[in-house]
Amino acid sequence: MRKKFDFLVIGSGIAGLSFALKVAEHGTVCIISKEKAEETATRYAQGGIAAVMYSPDTYEKHIRDTMIAGDELSNPDIVRLTITESTERVKELIEWGTQFDQQDSGKYDLAREGGHSEYRVLHHKDSTGQEIQRALLSQIQNHPNIELLENHFSLDLITQHHLNMEVNKQTKDVKCFGAYVLDIKTNKIHTILSRITLLATGGLGNTYSTTTNPKLATGDGVAMVYRAKGVIENMEFIQFHPTSLYNPGETPSFLITEAMRGFGGILKTQKGEKFMNKYDARGSLAPRDIVARAIASELKLSGDDYVYLDCTHLDKNKLIVEFPTIYAKCLSIGIDFTKEMIPVVPAAHYSCGGIKVDEYSRSTIQNLYASGECASTGLHGANRLASNSLLEAAVFSHRASVDAIKVFKNTNFCNEIPDWDSSGTVLNEELVLITQTYRELQLIMTNYVGIVRSNLRLQRALTRLKLIYKETEDLFDKSILTIQICELRNLINVAYLITKMAMNRKESRGLHYSIDYPKNS
Ligand code: FAD
Ligand code: SIN
Repeated sequence: MRKKFDFLVIGSGIAGLSFALKVAEHGTVCIISKEKAEETATRYAQGGIAAVMYSPDTYEKHIRDTMIAGDELSNPDIVRLTITESTERVKELIEWGTQFDQQDSGKYDLAREGGHSEYRVLHHKDSTGQEIQRALLSQIQNHPNIELLENHFSLDLITQHHLNMEVNKQTKDVKCFGAYVLDIKTNKIHTILSRITLLATGGLGNTYSTTTNPKLATGDGVAMVYRAKGVIENMEFIQFHPTSLYNPGETPSFLITEAMRGFGGILKTQKGEKFMNKYDARGSLAPRDIVARAIASELKLSGDDYVYLDCTHLDKNKLIVEFPTIYAKCLSIGIDFTKEMIPVVPAAHYSCGGIKVDEYSRSTIQNLYASGECASTGLHGANRLASNSLLEAAVFSHRASVDAIKVFKNTNFCNEIPDWDSSGTVLNEELVLITQTYRELQLIMTNYVGIVRSNLRLQRALTRLKLIYKETEDLFDKSILTIQICELRNLINVAYLITKMAMNRKESRGLHYSIDYPKNS
């Protein structure tokens, strides 16, 4: 199949859908998602979306909190524009039908999370993402200009490289003409041509063994741009969420929202001792990198597998009303959090870096934009402030749409692009070659490129990654393509980028902590 659209949107989370809704007023849109459209990381967001709504909060306070979290690596101009546009973007989500919790007065009920100096997180109980995803999808459905292709997997971006022209890192005018897309159900590879492409492919948590991210978070967008010779940055800054539910064997790990600590939950060792004040005056509500490292250090000292989050001293009824999903989940494994402490461990949660984009979400490849978790806008710097991610996606998808609507009519399709060439490939009947390497990759990254790093560990990781890279590329070249081999290849690509960039950073900053360079330079 060969199809043409004005706009190709790869991803159906908040970044992809909010962009699609805006550009669909001006041209034809195709949205592709590799699973059902509702299955995204967006859907699992619990805490909420940060925005300045009422005094005593101000843009300046939110800007300051974001800059502090980013450990001086955030771009101040980007932070300012994101925060000052926050109120408008949240109002738009509300106009599209998102229902955030309100108080009796009609004012939005704002929560507080680690690193925030004010109550500013809009939420829908503890399932905010699901509510946003529902509202956006209901706007998309039946939109006359939008075609939604579920269970379609983007393999690679189409550039001049596919016209047999040389494209390398020095090529200044790499152009994107669309993407090659695998229909997972029929195993056919389609050529989708577009004037404008938006990557909204989300995160890469599955690079690690323990992650809060859904199965689909395999860094595909970042890997595609890297292969197409676009610029990727800040990949060393992987955020580990301090509190995922300790429930061995469950993947992804179920998140215990930071809002529970905002509500008064306290971290304790298995002996029942509070420990966070040893590490930071803000205690259990210190920024995530500090809390995750503190937990890792306590686990190392005690030899335990988890610490506890204690909420048993809090108002039982209010807790259940505020956190019904977490209450039900804990009960399902025999824990009543109003009476018992919740066992928690850190888990890979968020990628702060990614595809480098400018203030209109333009990547370094022409006609290609990126938004949401796959993009690196400069907002998060070395560490993301809680609940700034949904906000970033809404702001940058809006900005991308403003620019794309201006330029798309002057951007031509490239009709000469050939279809995907599968000649010489055969069915790989040994799935173990993929599943085993997938596990191996996750162990390498967890053990050597995790919360605490060192030169020696990073070097070990790199040596091992090179080996599985070579084996997987050989297999990829010979195989009839499946989503499994493609995701594995992408994960190895992003793991390499995380490790290489971590090796190049000769300091500890934000989420990147090295025992060889324990200080900020
Ligand atoms: P996603 O919502 O992940 O969507 C990615 C889309 O890309 C999917 O449709 C997927 O199918 C598609 N895709 C990916 N690769 C391909 C491919 N190769 N081909 C085709 N389609 C592809 N952030 C906050 O701000 N507040 C929170 O409270 C919060 N809580 C969180 C809780 C959890 C458990 C998790 C995991 C994350 C949380 N985050 C939170 C982070 C936030 O949810 C994500 O960063 C954000 O939702 C990412 O949105 P997105 O649109 O970029 O990507
Ligand atoms: C949480 O609810 O703790 C997650 C919030 C976030 O990742 O921003």
